[in-house]
Amino acid sequence: MKVPLSRRIFLQQTGALTVTLLPALFAASGCATGLPTYRASASVGKVILDPGKYPELALEGGTIEVEVPSHHESLLIVRIGEGSYAAVSPVCTHLGCMVRKEPSFFRCPCHGSTYTLEGVVVRGPAEEPLKRYPVQFINNQLTIQLRS
Ligand code: FES
Repeated sequence: MKVPLSRRIFLQQTGALTVTLLPALFAASGCATGLPTYRASASVGKVILDPGKYPELALEGGTIEVEVPSHHESLLIVRIGEGSYAAVSPVCTHLGCMVRKEPSFFRCPCHGSTYTLEGVVVRGPAEEPLKRYPVQFINNQLTIQLRS
């Protein structure tokens, strides 16, 4: 015998399903950040780039997404200042959606967590910063360490 679902139970169940599935859908789609996206290869756990070859990095706050085929997630490379860069994961630490770039911060479209361009949480619900990758900028060469 079939028991009809009450409207309240139906909404609770479908709402829970939506919260569970949305982050997976965002994480599965490539280039979900909406940023200019480039490919780079890693060697010995490092990605080496010449930031001068990416016009988006000419100005402070400029950001690109870099896909590294051998790495499980892409990287967001941000020009923080003159000769200063940050590399962070685009994956929100709340439930795993891909963050979006706003003019001077990253914001998660799923529940509104906000991060500085260096990945520090400025508004929850996320409590942890974006994963940050160590970078070195020497002789116009940016080295991003994928493994710590
Ligand atoms: S996944 Fe919830 S705020 Fe980003």
